[in-house]
Amino acid sequence: MDHFLYRGGVLHAEDVPLPEIAEAVGTPFYCYSTATLTRHFRLFDEALDGVDHLVCYAMKAASNQAILKTLAGLGAGMDVVSGGEYARARAAGVPGERIVFSGVGKTRDEMRLALEGGVRQVNVESEPELHALSEVATGLGLSVPIAVRVNPDVDARTHAKIATGKSENKFGIPIARAREVYAEAARLPGIEVVGIDVHIGSQLTDLEPFRLAYRKVAELTDVLRADGHDIRRLDLGGGLGIPYTRSNEAPPLPVEYGAMIREELGHLGCEIEIEPGRLIVGNAGILVSRVIYLKSGEGRDFLILDAAMNDLIRPAMYDAHHDIVPVIEPAPGVAQTPYDVVGPVCESGDTFARGRMLPPLAEGDLVAFRSAGAYGAVMSSEYNTRPLIPEILVNERDFAVIRARPTFDEMINRDTIPEWL
Ligand code: LLP
Repeated sequence: MDHFLYRGGVLHAEDVPLPEIAEAVGTPFYCYSTATLTRHFRLFDEALDGVDHLVCYAMKAASNQAILKTLAGLGAGMDVVSGGEYARARAAGVPGERIVFSGVGKTRDEMRLALEGGVRQVNVESEPELHALSEVATGLGLSVPIAVRVNPDVDARTHAKIATGKSENKFGIPIARAREVYAEAARLPGIEVVGIDVHIGSQLTDLEPFRLAYRKVAELTDVLRADGHDIRRLDLGGGLGIPYTRSNEAPPLPVEYGAMIREELGHLGCEIEIEPGRLIVGNAGILVSRVIYLKSGEGRDFLILDAAMNDLIRPAMYDAHHDIVPVIEPAPGVAQTPYDVVGPVCESGDTFARGRMLPPLAEGDLVAFRSAGAYGAVMSSEYNTRPLIPEILVNERDFAVIRARPTFDEMINRDTIPEWL
């Protein structure tokens, strides 16, 4: 459920009509709903009610500080995967003890930043990383709580580019080698083993792969405890999928996910961490764009928008589907026709949808891409020297620009010209 609904024939974000925002900031823009963010965070938090837990929002999904502050204010921790994300979370006021540092290739500089600033736990993904972390921690005279990310060799049954839990993926250490790696971790100075970490992929629409992975984690907990490790925390990753179409998809709900976690892991008495990204912010954000031209091609009609693949890369990168709806509600029963919906970038890949059935649209009309809050703005670029588009946060009848559109000069002046030119 989200808070982008038609009222009086006009699509609103909460109580704000989207044409009003378009008028104020121009198009295209991302628009997020505070009520939806709040609702989705609470769904996870409540799903683990009664279990000692922390919901660490995977901020890679949408990392604007206003979003982080909204979630942190509700009690969220953060899952960060780079020094930049760590710094951004801190800048948004998230305390170090609520930040989990994940990621397959943390540099020593990034480790130092997090250790000096304070961190709840570092999720270690390889033995070389474990050694580097031990060196950095001892160099600072600190001891760092860690979990080792294990790769359970489970098929997440999702898009190949976002599956991470099979043995051929680059993530974590093979679960079969976990005992050795934990033994090594226990020997190393500056390292304090506190738990196990697992994350098998993103946009999972079925609980079974999670269940299989968590069962393996439960078995491993017993084995590692018998080896003398104090396993008291389990980080279960993120990955619960969202409905991208209004019609048929119905991924499991957080409450069902929470019940499964209790079933599989409740008896272990561990503190539970989860790292959802997409489900918190995906349907809490839309991308609003304007029709520049309608163009008739051979046997097809193109709807040319002012948004492009540099603003929302998911269709080009993962063949992802985003519902596209007109901001002015079409009359009931109006005939729909197929359009290829494209952006102005000079690549055929700059296609949002082919043969998409849409009601009649004209130059200047506004459309909204639904479910664009996760992996939208954060994956955008300035390809074709197109400015990064603004981000807007709505809260009931208020809206605020939380990232402004840069001017051409601001973009261009980031280049510096060598003196020999
Ligand atoms: N934890 C770890 C260690 C992760 O790698 C990820 C996502 C998450 C948590 C959050 O997963 P979520 O709950 O958002 O599914 N750009 C792709 C998705 C990449 C996901 C990367 N890792 C997309 O647009 O579909």
